[in-house]
Amino acid sequence: MNAYIEDVARHEGQQVTIHGWLHHRRSSGKIHFLVIRDGTGFIQAVMSKAGVDEQTFQTADHLSQETSLVVTGTVRQDRRAPGGYEIDVTSLEVISGSENYPITPKEHGVDYLMDRRHLWIRSERQAAILRVRHEVVNAVRDFFNNRGFILADTPIFTPAACEGTTTLFPVQYFEEQTAYLTQSGQLYNEANAAALGRVYCFGPTFRAEKSKTRRHLTEFWMVEPEVAYAGLDDVIELAEGLVTSVVARVLDKRRHELTVLERDISKLECVRAPFPRISYDDAARILREKGLPFEWGGDFGGTDETVLSEQFDRPVAVHRYPSAIKAFYMKPDPERPDVALCVDVLAPEGYGEIIGGGQRIDDYDLLLQRIKEHNLPQEAFEWFLDLRRFGSVPHGGFGMGIERVVSWICHLDHLREAIPYPRMLYRVYP
Ligand code: 4AD
Ligand code: MG
Repeated sequence: MNAYIEDVARHEGQQVTIHGWLHHRRSSGKIHFLVIRDGTGFIQAVMSKAGVDEQTFQTADHLSQETSLVVTGTVRQDRRAPGGYEIDVTSLEVISGSENYPITPKEHGVDYLMDRRHLWIRSERQAAILRVRHEVVNAVRDFFNNRGFILADTPIFTPAACEGTTTLFPVQYFEEQTAYLTQSGQLYNEANAAALGRVYCFGPTFRAEKSKTRRHLTEFWMVEPEVAYAGLDDVIELAEGLVTSVVARVLDKRRHELTVLERDISKLECVRAPFPRISYDDAARILREKGLPFEWGGDFGGTDETVLSEQFDRPVAVHRYPSAIKAFYMKPDPERPDVALCVDVLAPEGYGEIIGGGQRIDDYDLLLQRIKEHNLPQEAFEWFLDLRRFGSVPHGGFGMGIERVVSWICHLDHLREAIPYPRMLYRVYP
């Protein structure tokens, strides 16, 4: 019977056939230990000289790493085995060879591995990260779908900036026009929210980030909800609900992967509502108390975010940043117009910003003024201004970067491992 490694527990004592690749081989005179992977997991297949015919035993003697093969054998429980089970091999068929596989159990440098990312993802650790990513994405979709949000996709080719003109990727759009790869679906989300109430978009977004930090990719995936008739507090509550639900889901469904990653699970178990909410002013005070030379009015740098997020055992919502350092669409706090009704959620353990959002300007005149102040081309925003011409309502939302969340949940050093094929300042290969 064909089986996947993740299901072998259901087949204890039975004969199963596994279709996979050789991950590792250890042989002694009378026995071969073959660690097989099939994409769903890893299992040790034990081939004893007595258990197979002469030729099969000989073949196994020469198998190299990543040879594709089909193994049949009996599932046996073994408490010492990593997955709790082993297979006693009765037959083996080689599908295709693999000479000089470039990624061996020895240590390789990150650049070497990144150049071979298409193979590196076969490793146990990388595959575990991608499985966690899958779970995060599924949890996000379920969260919104179960709460009455409508998925409304936003375009990738856009006529103008959403998040500042310095990180736009221009694209030649036929002969005459320049389009830009989207930095965020937010502006279209706002139109969609006025049409559908509660919406989200979920897709790739692009930023020409010249920074070479562990927190920046040039192509990343973002989920963005937007809600009509929502204020800043509603936005923070929604963000809190999303993050707690995603973490709970990974803890529930991806324990094994977290173990492979040697993740300290107790840290993730702290991620429960309510999240602390602090103002930008409070955050600035904390930074100065910690001896950092932070001045009111500036944006938090990587170190600032790290220090702030280390103060709490769960994500923290930092609200009301100075309007001057935030995007053009942020609504000023009516009680204090120099700060915006915005929020960043910072993940703990030094991971920093995973969510950015807030309440949007709903007043036509103020929005037009901001578009001009930011030197944005008004004609490209006429449709966006229409939303304030025709039945404007208070509304808000946020964007959550999937790789930032995966990186934090998996406790990675760098975002590049949180996506199958990372795109960065110096990397568009493979
Ligand atoms: O804070 P940002 O720039 O906010 C927006 O784009 C809003 N328009 C979203 C909205 O309100 N609908 O980006 C949102 C999130 C960040 O918190 C971070 O998680 C992620 O997107 N992000 C990046 N992730 C990887 N690489 C980058 N260069 C990123 N820039 C932002
Ligand atoms: Mg931000």
